[in-house]
Amino acid sequence: MKRVGIVGLGYVGITLAVALARKGCTVFGCDRAPEVIAALAAGRPHLFEPGIAEGLRQHLNERLHVSGVLPDTPLDAVVLCVSTPVDPATRRPNLEGLRSAAHAVARAVGPDTLVVVRSTVPIGASRTVVLPELLAVWGRARVAMCPERTIQGQALRELEELPQVIGGLDDASGEMAEALFSQLAPRLVRVSSLEAAEAVKLINNCHTDLIYSFGNEVALLAERLSLDPMELIRAANLDYPRPDLARPGFVGGGCLSKDPYILLASAETVGHEPWLIGNARRLNEHLPGHVARRFVELLGQTRGRVDGARVALLGFAYKGWPPTDDMRGSAVVSMLDVLRQAKLTLIGHDFLVAPDVVSRLGVRPCSLEEAFEGSDGALVVTDHPDYARLDVASVLPRMRRPALVYDCWRVLPIAAVRRVEGIRYASIGLG
Ligand SMILES: NC(=O)c1ccc[n+]([C@@H]2O[C@H](COP(=O)([O-])OP(=O)(O)OC[C@H]3O[C@@H](n4cnc5c(N)ncnc54)[C@H](O)[C@@H]3O)[C@@H](O)[C@H]2O)c1
Repeated sequence: MKRVGIVGLGYVGITLAVALARKGCTVFGCDRAPEVIAALAAGRPHLFEPGIAEGLRQHLNERLHVSGVLPDTPLDAVVLCVSTPVDPATRRPNLEGLRSAAHAVARAVGPDTLVVVRSTVPIGASRTVVLPELLAVWGRARVAMCPERTIQGQALRELEELPQVIGGLDDASGEMAEALFSQLAPRLVRVSSLEAAEAVKLINNCHTDLIYSFGNEVALLAERLSLDPMELIRAANLDYPRPDLARPGFVGGGCLSKDPYILLASAETVGHEPWLIGNARRLNEHLPGHVARRFVELLGQTRGRVDGARVALLGFAYKGWPPTDDMRGSAVVSMLDVLRQAKLTLIGHDFLVAPDVVSRLGVRPCSLEEAFEGSDGALVVTDHPDYARLDVASVLPRMRRPALVYDCWRVLPIAAVRRVEGIRYASIGLG
């Protein structure tokens, strides 16, 4: 399994490509987006993921080749890492990219090449969407479903640390997939079918969404009861030998914001409506708007009026830790309608999201220092560790007081914030 094609060079494809090149494979990556190929061919990562820039520097045009199409030479395996979005309006899975990738693979290589589905797909899609495209041209095929389960920001490390789940169309396909991934993963978890592997990925992510949603459930309840949700959660967890409660916070990203809908669509095809999955997602989607409304309300109580107030938004990526530039499922985007309606003057900062991306959202990009200068409010949206390093005793007095500091993840030192005269402190569920 030394010559590997990768279709789709986003977060998943480019990290797998670099990881396999580092293990001595010759990797041929392709993507249908010309801007992705142009950037990578010039040795410039088109996204932020630790280790990718170094990987390109070391292996580009030697063990790692990028192009708009797969090469015209035999490959041992081709891995499909294409996007599998849900429609923004209907939330139905859109598998057009997956189908057209399978179609292109069928024309580029032959039936002795293993085709691996790595994208997150509805249960049954490897068999009903990918396989027919291959059989139509080849008459026989080797297919495996081997889901990606790494976290953005630590993907290269996790590719070598996480067990790899593998479901084969048949034994030979499963064995070929084991040969491919044994070059990377410390442990292989063979499951009985393509569908089992597809389902493992979806239940992993839906479970994460559900666990996080319970922290948000507690926060919304505590807010109404005038209790501090973090006091409750810390006390509940301390030395208590039962599952820990999650802390409240935003649950976004390319995967968690869509995978529950993919599992719901899968359940619908067999006439089943899950009890928890849809509600957990709706609760997590409700939170950013709730926080924005609460922020405006508290700002009004603090300053008397809100229109024209200058407010700094800190953290545009969907998460602060591990750091990423990814905006998919970002909380700030879901807050903007509410903040605009309140006629606030918005300025924004992120450590990794480019200033022009912030501008395109109608928010004036600013440095971290500018964020506080003369501002009436600051909304710290992500838990990027460098926000925790802010010297609050020196930056907060530059705000126009009285001012509101709403620290969603409680990254700022609360006691030090409260010591600054004229600063009101609030957080999710606390205020
Ligand atoms: N990002 C993650 O950390 C992560 C983790 C686990 C699973 N996944 C899943 O992996 C898949 C890819 O995710 P991603 O974050 O890398 O997405 P992405 O949007 O960053 O990258 C996908 C790439 O595929 C390309 N593409 C789409 N259709 C194509 C086609 N037919 N031919 C060639 N290229 C095509 C796009 O141009 C894009 O560059 C999704 O199914 C996602 O749910 C992602």
